[in-house]
Amino acid sequence: MQKFLLIGSGVILAACLLPAAQKGGDPAKGKEVFEQCSVCHNADSEEKKMGPGLKGLFKKAKLANGKKPTEENVRAIVNSGGNGMPAYDSILTDEEKNHLIAYLKTL
Ligand code: HEC
Repeated sequence: MQKFLLIGSGVILAACLLPAAQKGGDPAKGKEVFEQCSVCHNADSEEKKMGPGLKGLFKKAKLANGKKPTEENVRAIVNSGGNGMPAYDSILTDEEKNHLIAYLKTL
């Protein structure tokens, strides 16, 4: 009985922690992840470096590809890259991407 309770509470705990891991990235951690992006992107201006400056990215009407700057669309760009932008699909973990997006939203 006690064993069963233990397993039961473990499941509940996991169920509570999982959504937190998937959403709600930490902007401070995202800033660290962004260091590898800052070679090519300004975070404090819209001025172009190698790629476009990312200040106000989520406040733009449209991204360069014509899509709306939603979390999903920005994640797609980070994952697949293209036109001089590396693909980060297998370089960054989902968690790192969550932090990154949380940080980009603060720009
Ligand atoms: C080697 C240089 C380079 C690195 C490193 C790089 N990017 Fe890019 N990025 C680019 C270029 C070039 C473009 C423009 C691509 C295009 O015009 O289609 C771009 C485009 C983008 C865009 C679309 C901007 C818009 O307004 O549509 C986003 C968002 C972005 N990068 C985020 C990132 C993030 C986040 C990282 C780090 C994980 C990163 N980039 C790393 C070169 C780079």
